[in-house]
Amino acid sequence: MSTSTNTTQNAAEAPHLRPNPETASILIFGASGDLTARKLLPALFDLWNDGYLSDEAPIIGVARREKSDESFRAEIYEAVNGSVRNGAVTPEQWERFARRLFYRQLDIASAEHYPQFHADLNAIEDQQGTGRNRIVYMATSPDLFLPAVEHMGFGNMIPDRDASHWLRVVFEKPFGHDLASAQELSGNLRRLLREDQIYRIDHYLGKETVQNILLFRFGNSIFEPLLNRNHVDHVQITVAESQGLERGRGGYYDNSGALRDVLQNHVLQLLCLIAMEPPALFHARDLHDEKLKVLKALSGGNKGDITKWVVPGQYSAGVVDGHPAVSYLSEERIPADSRTETYVAMKVQVDNWRWAGVPFYLRTGKRLPSRVSEIAIQFKLPPLNLFNTVECDGDICALVGAQPNQLVFRIQPSESIKLSFSTKRPGMQYQIHPVTMDFNYKTFTEALPEAYERLLLDVLRGDSTLFMRSDELEAAWQFVTPILDFWQKAKTMPEPYRCGTWGPRAADELLHNDGRNWRSPGQKPAS
Ligand code: BG6
Repeated sequence: MSTSTNTTQNAAEAPHLRPNPETASILIFGASGDLTARKLLPALFDLWNDGYLSDEAPIIGVARREKSDESFRAEIYEAVNGSVRNGAVTPEQWERFARRLFYRQLDIASAEHYPQFHADLNAIEDQQGTGRNRIVYMATSPDLFLPAVEHMGFGNMIPDRDASHWLRVVFEKPFGHDLASAQELSGNLRRLLREDQIYRIDHYLGKETVQNILLFRFGNSIFEPLLNRNHVDHVQITVAESQGLERGRGGYYDNSGALRDVLQNHVLQLLCLIAMEPPALFHARDLHDEKLKVLKALSGGNKGDITKWVVPGQYSAGVVDGHPAVSYLSEERIPADSRTETYVAMKVQVDNWRWAGVPFYLRTGKRLPSRVSEIAIQFKLPPLNLFNTVECDGDICALVGAQPNQLVFRIQPSESIKLSFSTKRPGMQYQIHPVTMDFNYKTFTEALPEAYERLLLDVLRGDSTLFMRSDELEAAWQFVTPILDFWQKAKTMPEPYRCGTWGPRAADELLHNDGRNWRSPGQKPAS
């Protein structure tokens, strides 16, 4: 079964999405890194190609290495050509796009270089005929976040509130390592920047399907009344990856682990969106306020004993997608005795009027059988006893096919929303047959924009709705830090799971103990 979709309204016709080119310089600190080539520049190219960026406003790569504008452009061309929405970049497009790409060498950690850097920047902007509005994208290692902002202050790059131009600073994750470090970083940055100048990225919030959760919930009247403890049996949130560690990432990842890397941010943000109350207005502050309430209401299934509701795992050698995969401990730059978790599952409660008593099962991990992110809401099974009174061919009808209704948001890939329900199988008997109503994003003719496109555009527009406010971030850290502390203190060794399997056995038991099972993502109701 599939839905029909009216896609006649073009995105460009929607008033809030009309191209709105801004003139602001975009500075990427840490421009030699992978993120710049893989995500940021392709996103900026697509935004420009869609008419959201002016032709002149400079995009300036900033890093320690010496490099000319020409060699930076050549590198970026290699990265962008093939990664943009339409695949290849034409020579005419590249010629127009590349002439505003610049590179400036800077030792980001050295204050004394900033006054000269600022003068260079002014010269580029004067040459391009653009103003002094600036976005600084911190794609550096997090230990440079604070020094870079301090030195921007020293270089006179931070405008006052009443200045005629603005500065917005975007911070990539990780923003802090635990509650104390996140609070310290926020406190230090607050001395230098106002909250409206700070954009903390969680790229999951920029995904089209994630934004759609709010529209689906609050733009329809038939689902929202059911999303509460009266009707929902439980919720499962999965962010699964088949890949292991990308090259060169071992150093970062081993200090992070699945709980910090994905659960604390992406998974908890998904949980907030599915569990929050409707905000009064679709304004950044109202949305952040509602998400914060969810985070504050989070509690572990069994506070006294973390091992009862949190399961860490670490991948051992196995096979993923038909290819042999090495164990985590054999990955580059991973110590042989590492206790870092590459998988984490947990059972949590959102202890408020709407959700008390409804378990939320969360899991994320690397080297699982497939890359899939989804939220599955399972409703309570209705009383089906009446069908037991129907006779079929002299026997009582079997209701073995009865399955609870499920509403599944597939975030990626094969972006879709599915609702499963029971029907009567045609015939003389009353046999229950589960079917699925299926909305697939392919129904739309428009391509799904990349998360970074949307987020970069929002920074240009000064809209922080899809970014994390400091109190939200701290509430998320507040929830996960006791788990991290416990593992550290108890020297917890994560349970091994073979690459290509759905995680450690203890994660299955977490649900079995409640008489439930993890969904196999992508699973269809039995026919
Ligand atoms: C990042 C994590 O934030 O999210 C990575 O640091 C992870 O480890 C990635 O692979 C997953 O994002 P996506 O968009 O590929 O699901």
